[in-house]
Amino acid sequence: MDAIVVEGGHPLTGQVRVGGAKNSALKLMAAALLAPGVTTLRNVPDISDVAVMAEVLERLGAHVVRTDHTLTIDATELTSHEAPYDLVVRMRASTCVLGALVGRLGRAHVAMPGGCNIGSRKIDIHVAALEQIGIEISTEHGYIDAEGAAHGAHVMLDFPSVGATENLLMASVLGDGETIIENAAREPEIGDLVAMLVGMGADIAGAGSPTITVTGVGTLHPVDHTVVGDRIEAGTYLIAGALDSGPVTVTGFDPDHLDIVLQKLERAGCVVSRFADGVTISRTGPIHALDIQTLPYPGFPTDLQAPFMALLALADGGSVVTENVFENRFIFADEIARMGADIRIDGHYALVRGVAALSGAPVRSPDLRGGAALVLAGLVAEGRTVVTDIHHIDRGYEGFVDKLRGLGAIVSRVDVTDPETA
Ligand code: EPU
Repeated sequence: MDAIVVEGGHPLTGQVRVGGAKNSALKLMAAALLAPGVTTLRNVPDISDVAVMAEVLERLGAHVVRTDHTLTIDATELTSHEAPYDLVVRMRASTCVLGALVGRLGRAHVAMPGGCNIGSRKIDIHVAALEQIGIEISTEHGYIDAEGAAHGAHVMLDFPSVGATENLLMASVLGDGETIIENAAREPEIGDLVAMLVGMGADIAGAGSPTITVTGVGTLHPVDHTVVGDRIEAGTYLIAGALDSGPVTVTGFDPDHLDIVLQKLERAGCVVSRFADGVTISRTGPIHALDIQTLPYPGFPTDLQAPFMALLALADGGSVVTENVFENRFIFADEIARMGADIRIDGHYALVRGVAALSGAPVRSPDLRGGAALVLAGLVAEGRTVVTDIHHIDRGYEGFVDKLRGLGAIVSRVDVTDPETA
């Protein structure tokens, strides 16, 4: 069992480069299924979720080859339309092959994702949207069966779901007629997917706005595409720099994609300098308490809620954190409380009363972002913090320990069976 061991109190400074966005790369890999031939994806992070998605594509008959950060996906012939439970249960995002399989083959048999550590994560919005564009859906024995060809429709999503927007895009791009998606998700990863699909020959307008219009085309061709920089990985290192005093420079992403986070970091007392593909952060005074509420993009990203809560745990007053996207994303608060944080949870609100210091402790990574946030807390805690269940962190952060070491952190990955004795 691997754990991350952090010795707190060592200053962070220097430069770190983020990779391609996990939440884009996974969907772009699915999108490659839409075109026969060999698609090349560059800037693909080397993380376990990408490895699972590669397995999904292989089961469908595609051939995936990784060379460093480049993937080639040969989707010349697909031999299956099934995303089986054993893979979907390992990574919920594999359900994004639903739209791509419907688009390419006119049918899909995809395991229902079920819940996960951050909430129940239903799929009803995906299903309703696909039905409106003419796909027949039935659910039986834990699987979604989808069949048919998209005929275009005016679809209003109940919520700007990232996954539903992506499935709808991929299911409609090769269909007939015009599909108008209202209340579409506006995340930069949607923009990246649309950019790739347009590169493949799709006709899509309005990405980045709440209304996306897809005009079906007959065929798509393979493409060579570079994955957008990971704004969430970048935000994680910037919050690390804010917790410590920095300066820390994070490159490889578009600062506009983190606009509200950077504004909140400034209000918390940090000095933030933006440049073309990155940001430098530093802090000399105290961390100021402030409120955040997570919302779909361009609101504050739920994926940075836990790291930001670690920062507010050391602020000069009380902060209210409101989680509006996932119902179960506060488990991290119970773990950081073991390090001395003072956090009260009431439904989807967390009241964070800043404390003077955190103390290192054995803690368990509850999920991907919560795990990373516990490591950040450990960087500024007194003494040693041992974070277990770090397979969650491996899902989304390439070389997390090495990148933090590059900034001067005393952190290592060890094989432990008993975190108390690590
Ligand atoms: N929802 C429904 N019904 C649906 C779809 C969504 O009720 O049919 C609910 C979800 O249960 C959730 C909310 O709507 O409460 C938001 O879900 P959304 O579909 O927008 O999110 P997602 O596509 O499941 C992606 C990212 C998440 C990120 C969210 C929000 C991937 C693989 N995952 O999830 O990333 O938090 O968008 O930005 O792209 C992470 O990277 O740690 C992560 C969880």
